[in-house]
Amino acid sequence: MLIYIILGLCVIALIVAIVETRLLRVKHYTIDSQNSNLKKNIKIALISDMHCTVFGKNNKRLIDKIADLNCDFLIVAGDVINGKPDDLSYALDFFKGIKEKGIKTYYFYGNHEQKLSMTDEKSFEDYGSEIRKFVETVNNDTVVLDGITLKGLLIPLKMYRDKISEIEKYFNAVQLVGEFDNDGNYHILVAHDPTFASMYDAVGADLILSGHLHGGIIRIPFLGGVITPRHKLFTGRTRGIYDQGKGKILITSGIGWHAIPLRFCNDPEICMIEIRSSGYEAQIGS
Ligand SMILES: [Fe+2]
Repeated sequence: MLIYIILGLCVIALIVAIVETRLLRVKHYTIDSQNSNLKKNIKIALISDMHCTVFGKNNKRLIDKIADLNCDFLIVAGDVINGKPDDLSYALDFFKGIKEKGIKTYYFYGNHEQKLSMTDEKSFEDYGSEIRKFVETVNNDTVVLDGITLKGLLIPLKMYRDKISEIEKYFNAVQLVGEFDNDGNYHILVAHDPTFASMYDAVGADLILSGHLHGGIIRIPFLGGVITPRHKLFTGRTRGIYDQGKGKILITSGIGWHAIPLRFCNDPEICMIEIRSSGYEAQIGS
């Protein structure tokens, strides 16, 4: 009898996990900034790890949900595609729809974009040419905005495979993307994989934005995410916001799935990050 109860619960959990991949929630974060150049509150939408997942025809449900947030800009933190040349139209439809809504978007590559660049250079170049009609790509590059500076760290593809002890010998984030200037701007570093976060500290970000870990795919209350793409179990930081270096790291659990359509206690999420300016608070009070 017990075996039937356990089997029944497993079937129910499996159905819930499949259905959950179709849900979409907005997770709100508020961060206070003392940076002098930030004169108003900034609202940033963040998504990651779409992996060709589609919400409604041409991703309309996802696009509308992001548009409803009225963000100042959207950050896409990598793995929009699946590293293959045959499924890129989903990404193009998404970015086209986002542009039509008038949303300024910065796109930072993950390991799957890099995988495509290694396996099919022509498809990758064509993909890059097409998407840059709709979004700005930022990879080992810097974008300076009004009060905010964005840096995109393109993590070498082999780092997703090597042991961390080996990576520490050759990886230098500052050499790839430089340090933030002491200029009064709020400094955001986008780095797809948070596994190596301590190696990004020298860049000097106020906020690091990452994804890649899919929130641990299956989440268990009080224990957190179960498994990472490196097949490591219960690694701890797979979703949420944590202290890191001189600032914070925000790890989104992403909106898609890869290989197996499962997410448990781990709804696909759009992160809505409000950077609150101390200067703005003072204006309200005066
Ligand atoms: Fe990834």
